[in-house]
Amino acid sequence: MENNLLYNDYELVVTADGSHSIRFSAIDEGYHSTHGAIKEAMHVYILPNLVLHIGRCHTIYVFEMGFGTGLNAYLTYLYAKAAGCRLHYTAVEAYPIPKEVYTRLNYAELCIDEIKTFYPTADFGTASADFMKLHTANWGEETHISDDFTLHKHHCAMQDICLPQNLYHTIYYDAFAPQFQPELWSKDIFEKLRQASSPQVILTTYCCKGDVKRALKASGYTIEKLPGPKGKREMLRATL
Ligand SMILES: C[S@@+](CC[C@H](N)C(=O)[O-])C[C@H]1O[C@@H](n2cnc3c(N)ncnc32)[C@H](O)[C@@H]1O
Repeated sequence: MENNLLYNDYELVVTADGSHSIRFSAIDEGYHSTHGAIKEAMHVYILPNLVLHIGRCHTIYVFEMGFGTGLNAYLTYLYAKAAGCRLHYTAVEAYPIPKEVYTRLNYAELCIDEIKTFYPTADFGTASADFMKLHTANWGEETHISDDFTLHKHHCAMQDICLPQNLYHTIYYDAFAPQFQPELWSKDIFEKLRQASSPQVILTTYCCKGDVKRALKASGYTIEKLPGPKGKREMLRATL
């Protein structure tokens, strides 16, 4: 993939739950399920992963492979805010989406509505403005999006990032599918993540391919299959 991607390389699409996603023309692949981007993100990353750490540690350390639209980061931010917990969010992204694209995403209010189904009385105040802050935060440095939420985005390839040891509680593995980027689903990559994982880590991914299961196991994770989001039979959760 090229590094100088243009506005034309991304097509904004509306998924079945009304939330936007992007189709990336270079590989003709979507960033999310057409059955619902927000619903998929909740099903794969927030509910079987982040939620299990709420109330268990002082600060939850999250790592995301593929910042993309910022949807997972924003849902995580809102959920943690509603639950009253402190969170540090690291994300890596090799091909940041252009401003012309992220300013058109309809997540700011829709994600608040989604989290309100879990925390009906939560007061989100001006949090909808913070979706844009996630995108405008500088790459390569920590940004305090709020008192309780620190974001550190890295503009580089997953293959090149150096990660701290024994830190992350939650890992969202949201790379494009193995048929497009097999190099991102290798034992080497998962070993790097295992070393960066705390003993309580939970890694979730939408992908349940045999090669991915084998690579996760070979790198030291224990895996379990969970029912997938709408349109997918299964997904994976890995722990140590
Ligand atoms: C399936 S999309 C998911 C994006 C994001 N999680 C979201 O919800 O919008 C995969 C993301 O991985 C990024 N990506 C592709 N190759 C990468 C690499 N080698 N290192 C880091 N990020 C990469 C893509 O640009 C894209 O943003």
